[in-house]
Amino acid sequence: MKGIIPAAGLGTRLRPLTFTRPKPVLKVAGKPIILHAIETLHAAGITELAVIVSDLTHTEIEYALGKVPGLEVTFIDQSEQLGLGHAVSMAREWVGDDPVCVYLGDNLFEYGVKSYVEQFEREQPDALIALVEVPDPSAFGVARLEEGRIVELLEKPKNPPSNLAVAGAYIFSPRIFGILADLKPSARGEYEITDAIQELIASGGTVLGQRVQGWWKDTGKPDDLLDANRLLLERIEARVEGTVINSRISGRVQLPASSSVTNCSIVGPVLIGENVVLENAYVGPFTSIGRKSVIRNAEVEHSVIESFAQIENVDIRLQDCLIGLRAKVIGGRRVPRTLRFTLSDASVVELT
Ligand code: G1P
Repeated sequence: MKGIIPAAGLGTRLRPLTFTRPKPVLKVAGKPIILHAIETLHAAGITELAVIVSDLTHTEIEYALGKVPGLEVTFIDQSEQLGLGHAVSMAREWVGDDPVCVYLGDNLFEYGVKSYVEQFEREQPDALIALVEVPDPSAFGVARLEEGRIVELLEKPKNPPSNLAVAGAYIFSPRIFGILADLKPSARGEYEITDAIQELIASGGTVLGQRVQGWWKDTGKPDDLLDANRLLLERIEARVEGTVINSRISGRVQLPASSSVTNCSIVGPVLIGENVVLENAYVGPFTSIGRKSVIRNAEVEHSVIESFAQIENVDIRLQDCLIGLRAKVIGGRRVPRTLRFTLSDASVVELT
């Protein structure tokens, strides 16, 4: 089985973080989101992967991935973003006659996709879709399931026929490509993979649904990144190898040998990258800190801090923060008490 990861979108709901970098390279729990996706497919036994990229996302994604051992990664260009169905159809020749797992690069599954791959290989349907119960199904593709078979599938319906949403993992036989070739765009002007699957059902194809076990997260919005980071940090193990001077470290904390902690209190789970300097700081649970960042005379909790960030002399705790690459939060001027910002378009500052 081959794998496809659509990663050409602009990630507009994650602005301003996605003004300068595509969504798949934003990090949660110390790794680009797309690398979590790739590792999930690899763990399910898939070693040949196509990443669907655009002119705007290709370079950054290829750079962020580097060489992934044991995997053959091909980049396929989707110069126009005409929907998920269009993205998948770009890989038709590359897929050939193999079955393929399409994994939306911004989704995370606690237990990965192995159980879907196994059921597909056992039962050989035309498609198998991961389904998850959600409170707000109208924001997703929605399925009506009868005895394990999907009998109806609708994209973001106003009146959902069930609360079973399409989670971002689909497995297809090559039959899907014939349907995608003749697909008409939807009302919002996109070639929807959901419509292609509905056509597959209408033309007599066997489409199975398997419910997601454990948690599932779609990282479309800023709060989702914090949630995903928290869920992934739940599983890290303690590994303190760096320099610790006059500090208290409790819970599961990872501190690599190149990083140092002086006069600090760190309460895990906390993931610290390479060459990080922490001084007179409190770092609380569910925080990831990217490499070469500095936190000095400040307190941070439940936050994702990317690489080369600088947080210094801030006398109020930073909580639920997403701090981008090279961003600075600097305090310390006492009089007059003012706030001084250099904020990019659509940045958000909440003085709570
Ligand atoms: C896409 C699919 C939708 C699915 C969702 C899962 O929607 O079109 O059917 O439920 O992913 O994350 P999007 O998030 O691109 O709006």
